[in-house]
Amino acid sequence: MSTSSAPRINPSILTADFANLEHELGRIATADFVHVDVMDNHFVPNLTFGKTMVGRLNEVSPIPLDVHLMISDADHWAPGYAEVGAASVTFHAEASTDPVTLARRLRQRGARAGIALKPGTDVEPYLELLPEFDQILIMTVEPGFGGQSFMTDMMPKLRRAAEAVAASGLDVWLQVDGGISLDTIGIAAEAGANTFVAGSAVYNVGEPEAQIAALRAAAASSAHKH
Ligand code: DX5
Ligand code: ZN
Repeated sequence: MSTSSAPRINPSILTADFANLEHELGRIATADFVHVDVMDNHFVPNLTFGKTMVGRLNEVSPIPLDVHLMISDADHWAPGYAEVGAASVTFHAEASTDPVTLARRLRQRGARAGIALKPGTDVEPYLELLPEFDQILIMTVEPGFGGQSFMTDMMPKLRRAAEAVAASGLDVWLQVDGGISLDTIGIAAEAGANTFVAGSAVYNVGEPEAQIAALRAAAASSAHKH
């Protein structure tokens, strides 16, 4: 079953030193993917990287890229991130008019296709589309900034998604993003998450590799069993 696979830890470089990103990527080489938060100052009130930057990060990163697009008009912009080599491209459901067609275009370009849901967005309409996606991202903060508090009230939504994935027999990864730390990762793992984004908890607390190992162990010990 997909939910029994080892938990994946995807550090977010949103909290890293933007002037030394190649070095910062080297510090998380033991992680599964590097989570790259693309923001357009429109879908969210913050601005980070674009496609050229993501392509360059992909060239120097020791681990594959998990791109999280917090941008409007994902239908237009998302395929370009697959074209520059991102292993996974996750777009927001709220920013796409045709998520199925977009997911297919991402897969055609060799990327895993992910769909992200803001805290106020219901997961139910997307559960019948599971075969089209490789990952569902349940946001556990309002997207836009690192360092916010984990929203425990997202756990019923995560459980619902985990039940549907288990029933489908598909290997759709369940990702959580926002406020993941040693204090909260077990809550999300118990509710069914298997892929964990952590920004502050990796880069702002001691050595990143030690934090990655500790987060992975904490997630594994609380992992949801179906
Ligand atoms: C927030 C981003 C997150 C952010 C998480 O909009 O999507 O990936 O980097 O940061 P922490 O782990 O500090 O909550
Ligand atoms: Zn993110």
